Amino acid sequence: MTIRNEGDQSPTEMAKALRTLPKAELHLHIEGTLEPELALELADRNGVRLPWTSLKELRRQYDFSNLQSFLDLYYRLMSTLRTARDFRDLMLAYLSRAAADGVRRAEIFFDPQVHVNNGLDLDMVMDGLLEGLRLGRERLGIGGGLILCIVRDMPVSSAQAILDAVSHRKDDILGIGLDSAEVGYPPSLFADVFSRSADMGLHRVAHAGEEGPADYVTQALDLLHVERVDHGVHAADDPALVRRLASEDVPLTMCPLSNRRLQVVHDLKDLPLLSLLDAGVKVTVNSDDPAYFGGYIGDNYQALADLGMGLDRLALIARNSLEATFLDEDAKAGLLREFDDWSRRFIPGESFGGAGSAESGKEESGKEESDGGSSPNGADRKGTARD
Ligand code: ADE
Ligand code: ZN
Repeated sequence: MTIRNEGDQSPTEMAKALRTLPKAELHLHIEGTLEPELALELADRNGVRLPWTSLKELRRQYDFSNLQSFLDLYYRLMSTLRTARDFRDLMLAYLSRAAADGVRRAEIFFDPQVHVNNGLDLDMVMDGLLEGLRLGRERLGIGGGLILCIVRDMPVSSAQAILDAVSHRKDDILGIGLDSAEVGYPPSLFADVFSRSADMGLHRVAHAGEEGPADYVTQALDLLHVERVDHGVHAADDPALVRRLASEDVPLTMCPLSNRRLQVVHDLKDLPLLSLLDAGVKVTVNSDDPAYFGGYIGDNYQALADLGMGLDRLALIARNSLEATFLDEDAKAGLLREFDDWSRRFIPGESFGGAGSAESGKEESGKEESDGGSSPNGADRKGTARD
């Protein structure tokens, strides 16, 4: 495709184009959408004591020096979530924001070990989240699924216990992920947990290369058999690994505003996102924990536009995100057709064809319309490159 570094659009046209650009969000922690105002309201409603009582005081805690400094606040505020209604409302509020940013599909992380440690019933948490997803699909037309994240700095036995606890409802879960403090907790520790998850039919993703080295990304591929890598910033330190990610078509779910706020990079222009994209890696852009990092997914796309990234590259990133979903081929082709419609309107003449293009999907599926967001059960759990 043609690469233009300068945007041809006015700032207003660019903003409109980005807002309507059909995209998927593949790296979003639902607990990371808990805005400080809501955290204080929930603390009050649920009788949870926090060390901060005013918004002004709480807002002062958002100046992070690294991943751990953020996680300390994130886990603290998570304790205000207590009821199925809290989880349902959190999900619906996120999906409303995402819909306004052109998100058509969201594959969403949650941290069950933390909620269980807080004394909550796992089924109650999941019921609340799934009800929010159901309402989002019904009211906003956004499809989605849940990815159960293993908290890597908790004991491996607690990860196994969570798998035991969800085994009776594994069809309610799209996949397994790995998050929290990275350095010192390599993917190798979780090989058995991921192998068991694969046997349960779950998709596999893992945070790797956020603060940890490129070798953690390699471990995630070789030992956890992940289908996407979350962040993957430090993969760029290893040229052979970059070539591997490109040739094996492993998507990266990158999060620019998160990386800047957690000081993974000093400046957005230091993020290797563009070089990875240009090396042929399937880069996607996501928001991670938008309530903490100063922006939802649309703001992340806009931040790249503000750096001078052209609409053609931003569109490629959005298209990558649709291709990187765990949807079955028919549903994916439906979303890719929406992308093609957008592309004809905003960047006529630009070609985004390829093996998985909407055109080829149309021929294969013979289906006029996709619901653009099937239930987790509609997602394809077979046929992945590394199964
Ligand atoms: N949990 C929530 N956000 C996270 C991040 N950016 N990295 C690791 N774990 C997380
Ligand atoms: Zn994350």
